[in-house]
Amino acid sequence: MANKKNANTVTQFLNVHLSDLHVMYTKLHNYHWNVEGRGFFQLHAKLEELYDGVAGELDEVAERILQLGERPFATMKDYLANAKIKEVESKGISPDEVLSALQKDYEYTIESLKNGIDIAGEADDPVTEDMLTGMLAGYEKNLWMIKAYLA
Ligand SMILES: [Fe+2]
Repeated sequence: MANKKNANTVTQFLNVHLSDLHVMYTKLHNYHWNVEGRGFFQLHAKLEELYDGVAGELDEVAERILQLGERPFATMKDYLANAKIKEVESKGISPDEVLSALQKDYEYTIESLKNGIDIAGEADDPVTEDMLTGMLAGYEKNLWMIKAYLA
């Protein structure tokens, strides 16, 4: 188990990641509701699968923060103040625009997770490292699918 000081750098990262996941969760619902045009059925269903996945991840991240002896952010105020992923307004959006926007958010998330994996590695916290690596694999797979769809 990581020592207390190192655990703090890990939980600081995890709280930012938790904030990003909450904004992503809301954003994926936004697109699920507002996507329109050809490809609607596919994307509407895919977005539901994606936000369900994010719901599982944010719970796992919050509970990891507790295991490390800190408190997870648990208010929308904290999430919005700490997330790097930005919300978007509620308006009609085409499948291609959704996927282009998601591509950017996933590219950011992949870089962020790699940074978190480094932080957990430096803190001798293989459990967090493993958790984040599993999540990274999912985002890399999703990014590949988005690029294939847009190609
Ligand atoms: Fe729905």
